[in-house]
Amino acid sequence: MNNWLLQKNGWNEQDAASDGNRFLCANGYMGLRGMPEEASSACFPAVTLAGVYDQYQHRWREPVNAPRGLFIRLFFDGQSLALKDTPEKHAAELDCRWGLYRRETDFGPVQVRSERFVSMADCHLMADQYRIQVRQDGDMTLQVGISTDIWDINGPHLFNFLFQTGETLTVDAITGEKKITVATAQEAARDFDADESECRDASGVYRVFRRAVRKGETLTLSAFFAVYTSLDVPDALSAARMCCRKAKAAGYSACLQVHKDAWEQIRARSEMTLEGDDAAALALRVSQYHLNAIAPRHAHSMSIPARGLSGQTYKGAVFWDSEIFFFPMFVYTQPEIARSLLRYRIETLPGALKKAAEYGYRGAFYAWESQEGGEEGCTNFNVVDVFTHRPVRTYFRDKQIHISGDIAYALRSYYDITGDRSLLEEGGAKVILECARFYLSRANGHVDSRAVDFADVIGPDEYHERVTNNAFTNQMIRHCLESALALEEIFADRPGWLASLLADLHYEADWQLLADVRGRIARAAEQNGVIAQFDGYFDLEDCSLDEVRSRLRDPREYWGGDHGVAGTTQIIKQADVIAMMALFPEQFTDRQVAANWSYYEPRTEHGSSLSACMYALTACRIGNMDEAWRLFMKTAQIDVLGGGKQWAGEIYIGGTHPAANGGAWMIAALGFAGLRVRNGRPEIHPNLPRQLFRLRFPITVAGERLTVEITREGGRILRE
Ligand code: BGC
Repeated sequence: MNNWLLQKNGWNEQDAASDGNRFLCANGYMGLRGMPEEASSACFPAVTLAGVYDQYQHRWREPVNAPRGLFIRLFFDGQSLALKDTPEKHAAELDCRWGLYRRETDFGPVQVRSERFVSMADCHLMADQYRIQVRQDGDMTLQVGISTDIWDINGPHLFNFLFQTGETLTVDAITGEKKITVATAQEAARDFDADESECRDASGVYRVFRRAVRKGETLTLSAFFAVYTSLDVPDALSAARMCCRKAKAAGYSACLQVHKDAWEQIRARSEMTLEGDDAAALALRVSQYHLNAIAPRHAHSMSIPARGLSGQTYKGAVFWDSEIFFFPMFVYTQPEIARSLLRYRIETLPGALKKAAEYGYRGAFYAWESQEGGEEGCTNFNVVDVFTHRPVRTYFRDKQIHISGDIAYALRSYYDITGDRSLLEEGGAKVILECARFYLSRANGHVDSRAVDFADVIGPDEYHERVTNNAFTNQMIRHCLESALALEEIFADRPGWLASLLADLHYEADWQLLADVRGRIARAAEQNGVIAQFDGYFDLEDCSLDEVRSRLRDPREYWGGDHGVAGTTQIIKQADVIAMMALFPEQFTDRQVAANWSYYEPRTEHGSSLSACMYALTACRIGNMDEAWRLFMKTAQIDVLGGGKQWAGEIYIGGTHPAANGGAWMIAALGFAGLRVRNGRPEIHPNLPRQLFRLRFPITVAGERLTVEITREGGRILRE
């Protein structure tokens, strides 16, 4: 089966939130939620812009949603044919090959079929083809326009709307906080005669077509919608207008063709084919589609929010998800995107230096939830208690210090996999040194040994806050210090450059001190080969996940924080020790991985979509392929099934799951194929699950394009 279609039959407004995510169309610049053209703001439609943020009053800063330019209203004999009227038949699909959203709705007197895309060829453009099949004679009115009825979580964000009609409809507005112009324009083309007029109301500007229709007729309308902001060009409105005009002159089919060509190129670089299980093949395609669709191809330096471009959840912020979960697919398939993700960190170093200084440390402490300019989006109260409706003090912002090490880890991997040290030269080395400096200033001497402790931290498992010597964090720190030391060797041929960099940075920590601290970072206690997640972990109540779940009084209750049900137990939110073992495979023996896997997996809630892939990767390592397969499917299917947690306390956290999308690629490539790069050369160590008989995918290592092929007989790396 060669299935690229994610499909759904029926319309149920209750599913609008998850359908909007699953059927998302995006191109890195913007995301258009997968709702039909007629959907009202109650169905959470949105055009979410990458990298444009705004704060309304004292609410959370979040990305800006633009006006909706592919909005259509349909009337037949004076009756509105809106979707809320429960159409007799409705079906939607996402064609993941080219990021095409299609729907078919039977409204009774007319049937509508539409297709649309957010262009991969021109990041400012989206286009729609809307076909009406008339079933009975009558009078039809079609309104096509730009709706300013915008769904915001913490808005409104756009003010001073200016509307213009004429051949091009335009709406422009400015954001409240930074006065960024968001300009939108729409053009339409039709193959039918109609009385045409324009209308404006409080919620937008529309072109209105009226016509008597006859049974059997088909009417086709194409709409072209462009978005520019003043961050892109000085005159955003003219640029948006021009973009639409050009698209209309070219026509829908021509715009579609160049969009498809662009997707063909993306797939040629990254597409995995997996044979043996149709559901898995589709899930992996959907997953790869979602991650590729939100990559910042248009930008020199930009990262990807934790919920991609599916809306404003998680404040549109960039987390460690970027370096640890999205980065691997990109660095192995489209290194220029991996570069853009890391350049974002290089350029936001000033924000990280500022944050460290605010806490009284030196060096770079990166934002846990990073917005533009590296600004910290994470608040002190990131969860709202479901019982008291009060904000809960969470310490993610203050204590999740592994973030700096995660960034250094990705910078180092970029160099190891691409063999390209220019990113280190262009600021990457400086980032690694500043992260190392932060850890040196954050280190505590141990009271009764030579060990260096890292106290009062939070590891990936956010349910246990303010712990000491989180094994994952300490390992990331160790690696960060090693990466700083390794710069000497990487730049051995340019000793003058490194010395001048250190002098510029006033890098007071000498190499000796780095090496000394690295060697003394506390190692967590072990019990029967199981590494304690942090000091004192084994003293916590050891009970089952079901037991802890049974203590909940509300399904939305937050498990962490001061009163969370998990805090006093060994139940953890997500992979922590196991994430460390997945990221540093050479540091642990198979026996160690096996012992820790069997201990921690039953104690893990997998309350984050980042968790299952780490367990799957390590399950491959120890040959537990049934579990690897189960967790692979859980990861890859998350956006097919519309799964994942939707609430943290009273805060909505739904959206697409790019980390799981990246995780699915990681399990297939790094787990099933056992891909790794050692001394600049790719190696494979196949572990194909019994459900599959073939896995094939392209990679680029050290600038060379290769294909990895794994079958039941073994694996090979093919040169082009
Ligand atoms: C997870 C974090 C993750 C964030 C964004 C949280 O629920 O615990 O590890 O970075 O979601 O995906």
